Amino acid sequence: MKKDFIAISDHSPEELQDILNLAVSLKKEWKLGGNAPILKDKVLAMIFQKPSLRTRVSFDMAMRHLGGDALYLSPAEIGLGKRESIADVARVLSGYVEVIMARVFEHEHILELAKWADIPVINGLSDYNHPCQGMADTLTILEEFGTMKDVNVTFIGDGNNVAVSMLFSCAKLGANFTIASPGGYDLPENVLADARKFAEKSGSKINTLRDVHEAVNEADVLYTDTWTSMGQEEEAQIREKVFQTYQVNASLVAEANKHAIVMHCLPAHRGQEITDEVADGPHSRLFPQAHNRMHAQKAILVHVLGDQKG
Ligand code: CP
Ligand code: NVA
Repeated sequence: MKKDFIAISDHSPEELQDILNLAVSLKKEWKLGGNAPILKDKVLAMIFQKPSLRTRVSFDMAMRHLGGDALYLSPAEIGLGKRESIADVARVLSGYVEVIMARVFEHEHILELAKWADIPVINGLSDYNHPCQGMADTLTILEEFGTMKDVNVTFIGDGNNVAVSMLFSCAKLGANFTIASPGGYDLPENVLADARKFAEKSGSKINTLRDVHEAVNEADVLYTDTWTSMGQEEEAQIREKVFQTYQVNASLVAEANKHAIVMHCLPAHRGQEITDEVADGPHSRLFPQAHNRMHAQKAILVHVLGDQKG
């Protein structure tokens, strides 16, 4: 059966750990001079319904480093579900390339692509989650603390796609996850219910709070994301008011553990969810985290393509 990568919740802790171990070894290999061309002759189609810097460039470079190639398909070119049905796009691409990565508005659209494609489909962000980001974030935390077990991860802000993937990774791998979000912007109940089931097995503790000060107490990782995600632009003004006190600034960081690191999936809205002082300060891991997108995705690509040797 083909392997997709649609949500962290779909994968066992062992499988996630295998992908992360592979990311570590591919990163090491690349740093020592370059990767072996284990994806030679493989082509990735990258479908984007929204803008991207990190996802687009890191997937493209990941394929090139592994000896393969990538095709960028912009919203204007594909018209996914508009010019042509998703089922038809999936079946056509299955005859041309070996793997698809798609960034879509509605999560249903990724599921539809995966249903109809004969080749692996990777979720490059949907309204529901951002699993490639979650894997890069986990790699970043592992590099810092050596383990996910008992690491206190605190997310400040919207219970959005990025928060969902971080939560699932923590719940699967044994990190404690706390979120402070304003009323009406909570993580979805079904996500929390699933995460609590995973947490029972891993020993992770999950907390949902309103108060940022309570949430950062004893935090090892402070994570934040934009107050207004792509597709929510018309809510930006109201969100700016609602999230005003959900800012990761120097005084909030000072309330966390001394060694705490600050993470953000980027793009950052400096002066809103994070200040310049924190984003560019000693606790920040924003850029190593962004760079880890490429290393984590190499491992995801190799995983879904069946670890084929060139
Ligand atoms: N973090 C992230 O997915 O960035 P892009 O939107 O630039 O791809
Ligand atoms: N939550 C953000 C993440 C961007 C990488 C969005 O969906 O726009």
